[in-house]
Amino acid sequence: MSVRYIESKKTFLLQTKSSTYQMKISDYGYLLHLYYGERLEDEDLSYLIQLQDRGFSPNPYEAGNDRTFSLDFLPQEFSSDGSSDYRLSSIEIKNGDGSYAFVGKVAKHQIYSGKYHLAGLPSLWTTEKDTADTLEIWLTDAVTQLTVVLCYCVLEEKDIITRSVRVINQSEDTIYLNRIMSMTMDFMDSDYDFIHFDGRHTMEREWSRNPLACGIQTVGSFRGASSHQHNPFAVLCESAANEDYGRCYGFSFVYSGNFMCKVEKDQYDQTRIVMGIHPKHFSWQMKPGESFTAPEVVLAYSGQGLTHLTHLYHNVYRENLCKSPYAKKERPILINSWEAAYFDFDEEKLLKIAGDAVDMGVELFVLDDGWFGNRNNDNAALGDWDVNTAKLPRGLKGLSDEIHAMGLKFGIWIEPEMVSEDSELYRKHPDWCLQMPRRQPSRGRYQLVLDLSREDVRDYIVTSINGVLGSARIEYVKWDMNRFITDAWSAIAEKEKQGEIYHRYILGLYDIMNRIILTHPEVLFCGCSGGGGRFDPGMLYYQPQIWCSDNTDAVCRLKIQYGTTFVYPVSAMESHVSVCPNHQTGRTVPIKTRGVTAMDGILGYELDSTKMIQEEKQICREQIQSYKKDYALIAEGDYFRLTNPYTFMEYVAWEHVSRDQKEALISLVIMEKEANDAQRCVKAKGLNPGMYYQVEEMEGHFSGQVLMSAGLPVPNGLLQYEAIQYHIRAI
Ligand code: GLA
Repeated sequence: MSVRYIESKKTFLLQTKSSTYQMKISDYGYLLHLYYGERLEDEDLSYLIQLQDRGFSPNPYEAGNDRTFSLDFLPQEFSSDGSSDYRLSSIEIKNGDGSYAFVGKVAKHQIYSGKYHLAGLPSLWTTEKDTADTLEIWLTDAVTQLTVVLCYCVLEEKDIITRSVRVINQSEDTIYLNRIMSMTMDFMDSDYDFIHFDGRHTMEREWSRNPLACGIQTVGSFRGASSHQHNPFAVLCESAANEDYGRCYGFSFVYSGNFMCKVEKDQYDQTRIVMGIHPKHFSWQMKPGESFTAPEVVLAYSGQGLTHLTHLYHNVYRENLCKSPYAKKERPILINSWEAAYFDFDEEKLLKIAGDAVDMGVELFVLDDGWFGNRNNDNAALGDWDVNTAKLPRGLKGLSDEIHAMGLKFGIWIEPEMVSEDSELYRKHPDWCLQMPRRQPSRGRYQLVLDLSREDVRDYIVTSINGVLGSARIEYVKWDMNRFITDAWSAIAEKEKQGEIYHRYILGLYDIMNRIILTHPEVLFCGCSGGGGRFDPGMLYYQPQIWCSDNTDAVCRLKIQYGTTFVYPVSAMESHVSVCPNHQTGRTVPIKTRGVTAMDGILGYELDSTKMIQEEKQICREQIQSYKKDYALIAEGDYFRLTNPYTFMEYVAWEHVSRDQKEALISLVIMEKEANDAQRCVKAKGLNPGMYYQVEEMEGHFSGQVLMSAGLPVPNGLLQYEAIQYHIRAI
């Protein structure tokens, strides 16, 4: 078993293929964290706990005269609150008597094979091929009897540990849970860098790396969605770590709503990291006997740098996260109408775009926003999911039939979580949106957010969207969410439960996704929130791909995709070739480069194909053929970031390598160009040093060792923003 309790030492031992996690029940029943890192065999690491009398660090009452035991410096597995640990707390409870306190001690534990289940929440699941064992540890407060169950699942072969927390109100009072972190981890040192992914609309997941400093650093979202601004993923790595070297710890939150990740470097140069639902405006009422389940954090440890950490996440997220059968299927090459026509289209125009796209090898036509209700701009009609017959007189069915007759699949855009004030739905049910009493709600893109905490609202959405899906042959749906939450107040919740609305919204969202997406396994769903405003594992549980960003500029995309690849697999990133000058930045880059960049994801097109010249169409035709040939390599191979676009300015390069190391594809885009500049060689990674390879773009044969050590020359003649690919195949 990968989980064991060693009674004589009072230690819990979790073992993955290459990592070890160890905890210990201390003298007074507190659960201490001993170690997470490189795999060790059966060693007892209890010696790491060094007790000492430290001034101004209080001692638990039961320690009596022993002034060497303090929760203020000992590494905890789940920190208490209102007691003697002044560092970041894992929980905040308002007890029935008004006190804020939870002091948990180990009451019991349970080990079983298989994975714990999180009702109503997305989480990793296991297949027959996986060995998975679960450990649950009950921490109970002796006074209130409130219990926190720490859940750990070890996916041994995948080198992954998942964590979650369940709170059970075993007290006799109604209590309020004001904060619950899904994961707390202490390190006895602090020589770490904190890597996180920040951004904004049209510039998501920008890489950021800083050494820990004394005090607390925070990333998170209070926008009701995981957000463009911060991604729910963070890394702590030793300061010398790079792509190929060093200890790295990954923390990925399987949740799509408000989240918080905080790292604290304390007075003794120790580190604590916590991750969970953002506590701002969170207050969950728990009556006696009720329980609350926190979302899951997926932990990975790499002793060999960031690339290996990435491989662990890509592997488990490809295999154990997404419920859609499409996760494992080759995705069709699509053309999307948004940048081609925006709201200005009719059936004839769409059919012309589709007709020209078919000729390029496109396989799926996606009708974006504007096909329903009175939707001629973004001020109206969200919520009214009836087709706009002025634009599409024969309805979705008529259009879909024509599209299919051309040999294409058909897809649509929807935004089910929203309502426009100018809509039939809003006129009928103004109380169905989130808004506060006596206040006008904030508008975002001129729309309001439906109250998904309400069952009647959810039922309406499920019925209307399932109705749309049944009205025509629809094989793809882009599920959008174009504003974040404000005014989180529900017209039907009691006042003591208004602090639950943000989380209940997300639970409601997962409920409708279960009832719409998972009941249509034949449809490929793509997530979207103004591009990548909700790019998180919670969404990837339902939808195998997400529109990476509303920014289709290939040069900006190099950074956006770079950041995204740290945790999310290539098969999750939908990426399109669009027109130049680019609609977001005005930049012009060659069509080949736009294709090479979009091939670092799920390739698609988002332009008016009727306006393309023959030469461009031919380039796209070749792109599609080459992408389809290399699809398995790109979507399932190991991913290597060969450069960091934030620190190396000359070119951006990345590589896909097949699992059997027999094929690889290096893509490279020239960035800052100088005249008569130095000759560069890009060094491959991940090849078999002893194998011989042919490089389609070069003469001769080379060993893997040569390609990795000496590299492949970057042609000096390439100009700024030109791209090259090297197709490498074993001979
Ligand atoms: C969002 C999406 C875009 C497009 C528009 C339509 O911004 O990210 O791709 O679908 O909505 O309104």
